[in-house]
Amino acid sequence: MFRSIVKQKIPFLDLKIQHQQIKNEIFQAFEKVYENTSFSGGAFVEEFEKDFAEFCRTDYAIGVNNGTSALHLAMIALGIGEGDEVIIPANTFIATAWGVSYTGAKPVFVDCTADTWQIDPSKVEEKITPATKAIIGVHLYGQPFDVEGVSSICKRHKLFLLEDAAQAQGAKYENIPVGGFGEMGCFSFYPGKNLGACGEAGGITTNNKDYYNELQRLRNHGCKERYYHDILGYNMRMGGLEAASLGVKIKYLQGWNQRRKEIAKKYHNGINNPAIKMQSQPDWADSVYHLFVIVTKNRENLMEYLNKQNIFPGLHYPVPCHLQKAYTHLGYKKGDCLNAEYLSNHCLSLPMYSELTDENVEYIIEVLNAYDDE
Ligand SMILES: Cc1ncc(COP(=O)(O)O)c(C=O)c1O
Repeated sequence: MFRSIVKQKIPFLDLKIQHQQIKNEIFQAFEKVYENTSFSGGAFVEEFEKDFAEFCRTDYAIGVNNGTSALHLAMIALGIGEGDEVIIPANTFIATAWGVSYTGAKPVFVDCTADTWQIDPSKVEEKITPATKAIIGVHLYGQPFDVEGVSSICKRHKLFLLEDAAQAQGAKYENIPVGGFGEMGCFSFYPGKNLGACGEAGGITTNNKDYYNELQRLRNHGCKERYYHDILGYNMRMGGLEAASLGVKIKYLQGWNQRRKEIAKKYHNGINNPAIKMQSQPDWADSVYHLFVIVTKNRENLMEYLNKQNIFPGLHYPVPCHLQKAYTHLGYKKGDCLNAEYLSNHCLSLPMYSELTDENVEYIIEVLNAYDDE
C-alpha cells in the first residue's frame, strides 16, 4: 500500500486549525468591539477598509455584509437595471449572476477556455448586443482571468469592466493585485475564503471617488446624513465583529497565501498521473489557490477511491450557471457552454488550506498517482 499512511480524514477544507491558532488575538479584537459597542459599521470597519484598500493597492475599499451584496451594489452604482445585459462566465459560483439579476438586468453566460477554465475572451464579442452594459470577469479558484483580453473588449465596445474577486484576495495579474483593474472589484469574506471573516462579510474596491461615495450611501439606507434618504438604499453594512476579525486576519493573509502556493507547487510537481488534468497557468497569473481544481474522466470513480483512502475532496461546481434551474427562463440548453459543462461533470477540488501539512500533501499526491481510471 501507500508509503505514508494517513489515519485521520483529510477534508477539503479545515477552518478549525487556523481559528485555534489566532483565537486569542481574535477574542481580544472582539472584546474591543464589545467595549465600544461598534457592532454595525464604525471604527473597526473603517480601519479594515483602509487596510484592505492598501492590500489591494486601490484608492478605496468599502465593507459590506457579504460578497453577493458587493456584486449587487456594484451593479446599481453602475446604473445597471432592467433592459440591460451583463456578460459573465458560465463557470462561476452562482452569486456572480445574482448580482446582475437582482437589478432586473439579464446575465448573459459565456463559456470558459478549455485549459485555464476562466472566461474565454474570444467568445465574448459574439455575446455583445446593444443592451450589453458590462462584463464581469471572475478570478475563479483564486487565479486571475485574462484581464487584458477582457478589458480590451470593454474599451472597444465602451462597456464597464467589473472584477468578481470573491475567491482571489491577494492574487496578482501581471504582478498587480486584483481588484483595481475594472470600475470596481467585488470580494467575499465568507469564512471559507482565503481571507474570511468570523461571520459573513464582503467588500468592494475602486479607484473612483464617485463610485466610492455612491456605494457608501447605497449600503446605508441611501443616506449621507442620518435619516435623510436621498436615494433608494439598502442595509448592507459590514458588522463590527466581522471587521475586527478581518483586521486581525489580514496581517496573516500574505503568509497564508504563500503556504497555499507552496502546496499548489507540490501538487503541480508531484501529480504525474495522465488521468488527472490540472488548471493551466499563464505567465501573467499569480494565483492564490482558493481552490485547487482537477479534472478527470470518471469523477465518481476517483471520488470513491479517494474517500476510501480518507481523502475528501470538494466539488466546485456541479452545475454551470447557464443550466441552473433558476435560470431556465433564459432558455439555455446543454451544449451552449461546452467547456463549462465538461468541467462541471468532471471536476474535483483537492484539499487546500494553509494548515494542510506536507505529510498530508505528499500522501494525497501518492494516492492520486496510484489511481487507475480503467
Ligand atoms: C465567485 C464568487 N462570487 C461571489 C460570491 C459571493 O460571496 P458571498 O458568499 O460572500 O455572498 C462567492 C462566494 O462564495 C464566489 O465564490
